[in-house]
Amino acid sequence: MKTSKEGRYKRIQEQLEDLFSRTSATLSRMSTINALLYHKMEGFFWVGFYLIDDGKLMVGPYQGPLACLELPSGKGVCWEGITTGKTVIVPDVHNYPGHIACDSRSNSEIVVPVHDRNNKVIGVLDIDSREPDHFEQADAENLEKIVALLHKGYDLL
Ligand code: SME
Repeated sequence: MKTSKEGRYKRIQEQLEDLFSRTSATLSRMSTINALLYHKMEGFFWVGFYLIDDGKLMVGPYQGPLACLELPSGKGVCWEGITTGKTVIVPDVHNYPGHIACDSRSNSEIVVPVHDRNNKVIGVLDIDSREPDHFEQADAENLEKIVALLHKGYDLL
C-alpha cells in the first residue's frame, strides 16, 4: 500500500479515537466515520452504512450520491458481507453476479461487516469507487479497525 494512503488511515483512526472519546452514540459515530473517509481518502465515491432492520437491509448514514434505500435480500455485495460475516472486496462490480448498482458510476467496492457485542452481524460499512480495482487487503485491514472503533469504550447495541 502507498505510504500516503497508510498515513491517511492512521490519521483518520487517531482522529476518530479522539472524537469517539466524547460520544458513544452509534449514529453519530457512523456519520463521523463517513465524513472523514469520504473527504480524506482518495477515490472514495460513496461511503455509508447499510443496517439490518426487521430482516431488511436499509441504508443508514452515508456520504455521496443518492443510494438505494433498501437492498433486496439474497443478492449483492452488502448481503454477502452480512451472510458471511467477512469483508468482501470486489475489484470489478460489473463482473460480480447479482451486484446491485445504486449508481452506474461505481466500478469497484468494499464491504466490511459491523458486529454487535455478541458478534452478530448488524450491518455493513460499504464503500464504492469510480476507479476499477481500487481496494486492496490493506484497505480491508484498516477499515476493519475503523469499524471496530464503533465499539470503543462501550458495547454496540
Ligand atoms: N452495490 C451494493 C449496493 C449498495 S451501493 O453500492 C451504495 C451491493 O451490491 O450490495
